[in-house]
Amino acid sequence: MILRTPYPVVSASRLKANIQRMQALATHAGARLRPHAKTHKSPVIAKMQIAAGAVGICCAKLGEAEVFADQGITDIRLPYPIHPSNADRVLALLDRITLSIIVDDEEVARDWSSVMSRAGKVLNILVKVDVGFHRCGMDPAAPDLVERIGRIAKLPGLAFRGILSHAGHAYHAGSPAELAAIVATETEIMVGLAGKLRAAGVTVEEVSVGSTPTAALAPTQRGITEMRPGNYVFFDRTQVSLGSATIANCALFVVATVVSRPAPDRVILDCGSKTLTNDGARGFADAPGYGLVFMSSDEDVPEPAILVERLSEEHATCRVPADSPLRPGDRVRVLPNHACTVTNLMDSLVLANEDGSMNRLPVAARGRIW
Ligand SMILES: Cc1ncc(COP(=O)(O)O)c(C=O)c1O
Repeated sequence: MILRTPYPVVSASRLKANIQRMQALATHAGARLRPHAKTHKSPVIAKMQIAAGAVGICCAKLGEAEVFADQGITDIRLPYPIHPSNADRVLALLDRITLSIIVDDEEVARDWSSVMSRAGKVLNILVKVDVGFHRCGMDPAAPDLVERIGRIAKLPGLAFRGILSHAGHAYHAGSPAELAAIVATETEIMVGLAGKLRAAGVTVEEVSVGSTPTAALAPTQRGITEMRPGNYVFFDRTQVSLGSATIANCALFVVATVVSRPAPDRVILDCGSKTLTNDGARGFADAPGYGLVFMSSDEDVPEPAILVERLSEEHATCRVPADSPLRPGDRVRVLPNHACTVTNLMDSLVLANEDGSMNRLPVAARGRIW
């Protein structure tokens, strides 16, 4: 196989180990695992996750769900506020798979109820709760929250499954203690709300939480029925900076070639923002630049003296020590800051198998932004 750079390479052994470790973690926590497929967008990897014990997957967009449904994934949750203007596609998917969506707005829930009642169908829904990320979700401090969710749960054409949260602000935690506090607050809000709903006579089958940084703290979460981490299949530099993974757990790297050495302290790689994206790394410690560079093809020792300082679309401008041996034609590996956005730019990933062989894995659901 001719491998032209830049290309994303995935270690099959690390991928399998990451899938198994997260499954064991969820099982130990007494929760079902429903990984978010946004990270790999690959039906092949989704099937590996399900074979390891996952109950299904999550997608963000209907377009992604359509691709996974075409490839035989039969249980998909969309923890994203899908609007009823997409009802035709939701109805078509309901004929093929078990589908669930979230709502965080009573009026939108009523619109879904009308659509489903007219079509004689039932749509599984969960109510999204804002546990501090302040993106989507109902405010858990709202005095009438239990009443509002109770009204949604009674709407015809909808099957209320429970409540769902995503502590995306975990990515902004400044320390392990802050991360632990975010998990504790999420658990308290979600388990507390489920209790209040049950006390009010509302059946709550599912209490779903999920992100990769919070997953490692999951065994302390009692009353949580489902975890939805996504990034853990590959991990990335942000997860290393947050302590969710070590470099040795990271399964996806970008292989790049030095295309220019225009000055003693400057090297240009062929992986610009069209490959690495402009996402910065988050984490407890400062992680400057657009990725972590490794000179060796198989060792997990980064070159901290190489800074991926600037990205143009096709160029990565790196600051290097004057005595760096890098010359045009040399190849390096880059651990991206954010793996999910990198895969979205790739038609395929190169899977490096344990026996030394390589094969291409299509990123079948990439670019499905609608
Ligand atoms: C709603 C929702 N659930 C789960 C996840 C998975 O979290 P992570 O990417 O930290 O694994 C995401 C990620 O963006 C999300 O938006």
